[in-house]
Amino acid sequence: MSLNKSLIERDLAVLWHPCTQMKDHESLPLIPIKRGYGSYLEDFDGNKYLDAISSWWVNLFGHSNPYINSKLIEQVQNLEHVLLAGFSHENAIRLAERLIKIAPKNLTKVFYADNGSSGIEVALKMSFHFHKNRGEIKPLFISLENSYHGETMGALSVGDVSLYKEVYNEIIIKSIQTPVPKDQRLESIYEPLQKLKELLEKHKNNVSAIILEPIVQCAGSMHMYNSEYIKEVKKLTEEYKIHLIFDEVATGFGRTGKMFASEYAEVSPDFMVLSKGLTGGYLPLSAVLLTDDIYREFYCDYGSGKSFLHSHSYTGNPLACAVANASLDIFENENILEIIQPKIKLLTELLEKFKNLKNVYNVRQTGLIGAIELKNYKLEDRIGLKVYKYGLEHGVLLRPLGNIIYFMPPLSISESEIHEMVQVGFDAISSLNK
Ligand SMILES: Cc1ncc(COP(=O)(O)O)c(C=O)c1O
Repeated sequence: MSLNKSLIERDLAVLWHPCTQMKDHESLPLIPIKRGYGSYLEDFDGNKYLDAISSWWVNLFGHSNPYINSKLIEQVQNLEHVLLAGFSHENAIRLAERLIKIAPKNLTKVFYADNGSSGIEVALKMSFHFHKNRGEIKPLFISLENSYHGETMGALSVGDVSLYKEVYNEIIIKSIQTPVPKDQRLESIYEPLQKLKELLEKHKNNVSAIILEPIVQCAGSMHMYNSEYIKEVKKLTEEYKIHLIFDEVATGFGRTGKMFASEYAEVSPDFMVLSKGLTGGYLPLSAVLLTDDIYREFYCDYGSGKSFLHSHSYTGNPLACAVANASLDIFENENILEIIQPKIKLLTELLEKFKNLKNVYNVRQTGLIGAIELKNYKLEDRIGLKVYKYGLEHGVLLRPLGNIIYFMPPLSISESEIHEMVQVGFDAISSLNK
């Protein structure tokens, strides 16, 4: 038996994979990966796959990046982990200093957690606790329709993708969803803003925060909306004295063409949650950036009930902080935010031809994220699965979200790889018309 086959057998005997109906693997082969380099993953039979989705939107500078590897090795030889309560280490400090420097202004403190969802939990709990410290109980959060903030109970509660949430409706915490602008045009922000105002008026004394993914709702079908909406939401949060939480777990670190998506709106939130690209795609880590105002509300004598006694064992893990710093070095040393501009332009040009395909409903793009929405397919057609299989057979890892075929490659992707990625996506969608 080949190594590939035996790994698949051993895997299916013991593993339950994330976001997967395991029965699918009766007909859909698993792909054990032997190594990764640059934009590619390679399996045990020597097949290469261009990672067009950055392995769930985490990878920024290619797999097994030599510079990041070297910084990881350097760190592991000195310190693999130390608790962050009562102790500290240089990479955690340096990373926090650098994040504060590049983040929207007014974010002056960093609280680490270890994945996107747990970062969201921190922001939600802290926001609620802040108001409680001030003598106000505000149990509600407002989020956008079609939003996604992760899978832990709090994060799931403020999300709105029914595929992940509905089954848990009886046990999740209460939250309210408000309409998201339906497309990228400025005109589409006004109605949702009016709805939000009405909601705030109705619930004004009970809302702790509004949470949103700035300009791109990634897991929500790569839905994109106008940044002006965020500016107006900011004004409303000030007017109603509630917090604004930006979830930049997926959109942070250059994906949208700027370091953070919120830069398009030039708005500073009360909390900003970062993860995924934070470590260049290497290790789990999240960072919650927050204002001094929030920090000071918790700064008091121990035992007052006002302390934020939240922790994760691996909070601020030194290896994760080291690779996050290495990733920021690359941004600085290689002028990444400029280098990606021609790649974004190329993607725009190449996406044009999708508009002529008869099964394409809509094509949209923000930075290096491109999405093609197909029309006239039902959920049970499992059109995404067909595209996924086609991609693999032709050497590109595409992982559609239902009827949405999208590209979110590493920022380090080359122009020729962009051509390859888009062509396979195009052929996959065209093949559905045959
Ligand atoms: C916007 C957003 N927030 C939060 C999360 C949750 O992050 P994690 O999967 O690391 O828990 C995700 C994951 O896809 C996300 O896209």
